[in-house]
Amino acid sequence: MLPCSILAGCGGYLPERVVSNDELARTVDTSDSWIQERTGIRQRHFAARHETSAFMGAAAARAALADAGATPDDVDAIILATSTPDQAFPATALRVQADLGVKRGFGFDLSAACTGFIYGLSVGDALIKARQATGVLVIGSEVYSRILNWQDRGTCVLFGDGAGAVFLRAGADDGPANRRQGILSTHIHAQGTLGDILYVDGAVGQPDKPGHLVMNGREVFRHAVTRLAEAVDEALAANGLARSDVDWLVPHQANRRIIDAMGRKLELPAERVVVTVDRHANTSAASVPLALAEACRDGRIRKGQLVLLEALGGGLTWGSALVRM
Ligand code: UT7
Repeated sequence: MLPCSILAGCGGYLPERVVSNDELARTVDTSDSWIQERTGIRQRHFAARHETSAFMGAAAARAALADAGATPDDVDAIILATSTPDQAFPATALRVQADLGVKRGFGFDLSAACTGFIYGLSVGDALIKARQATGVLVIGSEVYSRILNWQDRGTCVLFGDGAGAVFLRAGADDGPANRRQGILSTHIHAQGTLGDILYVDGAVGQPDKPGHLVMNGREVFRHAVTRLAEAVDEALAANGLARSDVDWLVPHQANRRIIDAMGRKLELPAERVVVTVDRHANTSAASVPLALAEACRDGRIRKGQLVLLEALGGGLTWGSALVRM
């Protein structure tokens, strides 16, 4: 029998500094009404110098462990999804390991842009099923404010900073009933030929620059609507479930219009779709776990409910996951 991966706890961290659309409009040629109309974003959080991906990731991980009633001794693997690591190496996951006082196991960073958390869930679940780990922290942590091009109003108004985390605990799988709890399935995809519609034009391995985010918004939007629809259908079909079985959709928070389209596709009433894009903007790999943590903390998502997660990002990468809480 394979162990299952119970989503035992979740947590989030947002930088203290909140920046409204009006504040951005003082330095960028934009307006609150354009940003709200096209994206649903009202504000975002921007990190202070000390709020790095490791710092925020550790804070979110601490909250997830506390929520699970677990301690750092229960952790034997840390997967940290980020496009904005503190350093090329050591992995930001290992800075988090040291900060939390985790004394065993292993950790690594995962690069899948905005889909990073879904990829991380998939790998964490596989590690548990392969019996290579029994307590996995999956973290998404990002400081996109450091890679935004402030001369490009088409992208710099869309993103924010933050971190979210979940703690996965190995559970016994001693029959079909248990196979229906925790992570039911994950579905991850990539199409490298679409790498140029959303990318960062530099890295520490490049001769001259760390790089800025570049996006063809319309192209990404077009792919997002189709790919995400496919990914949610795939997750339901893999588990023999119907749209009406889904209690909550926790989508990637890039654009309110994409989120609403996904909710309509699943025929879910708006109040069953978790939305944070209005307050967080797009926090890339942190967006799904931050939204999940918020809806669990305020009591909307309850134990036993079926939650569908989805995301799409640079790569192009996309994916979905079905979780019984
Ligand atoms: O997280 C990864 C996944 N990312 C996404 O899913 C993002 C997907 N894409 C989008 O969400 C949308 O494409 C955007 C929100 C990025 C852009 O919305 P859009 O409706 O596709 O606008 P657009 O880029 O076609 O621009 C429309 C107009 C242009 O002006 P003209 O050419 O019509 O005169 C832009 O110059 O809006 C202008 N514009 C702005 N105006 C005020 C672009 N950015 C801004 C801005 N403020 N910040």
